[in-house]
Amino acid sequence: MLISSFAQLAGELAPPAPAPVRSAEHSPFGRDLVAALANRPHAISPKYFYDAAGSHLFDRICELPEYYPTRTELAILQRCAPEIAQLAGPQAEIVEFGAGSLRKVRLLLQAFERPARYLPIDISGEHLATAATLLRAEFPQLDVQPVVADYTQGLGLPHAAGPGRRIGFFPGSTLGNFTPEEALAFLEHAAEALHGGALLLGADLVKDPQLLHAAYNDAQGVTAAFNLNLLARANRELGARFALDQFAHYAFYNAPLQRIEMHLVSRQRQSVALAGQRFELDEGESLHTENSYKFTVDGLRALARRAGFRPGPVWTDPQRLFSVHWLHAPERKSP
Ligand code: AVJ
Repeated sequence: MLISSFAQLAGELAPPAPAPVRSAEHSPFGRDLVAALANRPHAISPKYFYDAAGSHLFDRICELPEYYPTRTELAILQRCAPEIAQLAGPQAEIVEFGAGSLRKVRLLLQAFERPARYLPIDISGEHLATAATLLRAEFPQLDVQPVVADYTQGLGLPHAAGPGRRIGFFPGSTLGNFTPEEALAFLEHAAEALHGGALLLGADLVKDPQLLHAAYNDAQGVTAAFNLNLLARANRELGARFALDQFAHYAFYNAPLQRIEMHLVSRQRQSVALAGQRFELDEGESLHTENSYKFTVDGLRALARRAGFRPGPVWTDPQRLFSVHWLHAPERKSP
């Protein structure tokens, strides 16, 4: 099926249960969107893509022929699960940052020897509850303890419970949403929280810019709809009145910075009301909605080492599109 416009795509989604319209000052999304419109260049965190509609669109992105990361990472995990299970050891505890796709952690849970506990950390409590219910039914011996938290704001983890290792799981190359400084800080916190265990990390690799470009400019326009959903969400949740057809999806590979950038570019001079203020957008002005950094295997290992990890095995696909890293988190030095 060809999706020609956001309207068509949006119309095809079941109307989401209307989120209560909150005044923009009273939600993190509202505050950050106001700040984005007040500052120049305009930029907002990609974490706000993922309301119910955005999460659904992201699931569709993962199925697109152009979007290679999900299926490539799944294939790597599938192929290497026995080796990963060996490294993790018996009765391990899996801490997943962002409880995204159950398909990925399921591969680990099936391969691991008597996995003891699973702690998915996610900002969306709803998403977590669904994930927890499904996994409890599938793995009755597993202790599933969802943690509702924004892991970009620090890692408050409960104490490790069992005798097994604590294994962090951060798939999907979500690390690429962080700036290099934020990525380092996140990895430092993770190394600390996982001490004595390890982090299993998925990282998308630098490659032919045409392939990267296509992955974020799919022919069906699903990525465009995903990007524009940020404004649709503001309309639903914050009572904003963005005219979605007045914004263009623009995604490109910034080779010097090794990152995909996604923008929403204003097609004309327009003014937007939010939180009792008016904001002007010039013709051609952009709202920067996402960075997705790409890595080299060596660059990622060097970053992990700087954060306090000891890099272990790396697995890639035959085309070297994507990489999965085992990073040992050393024991805490005794004082
Ligand atoms: C979930 C951050 C890994 O950067 O590829 C997909 C999000 N954005 N298409 C990515 C995304 C546009 C995705 N991550």
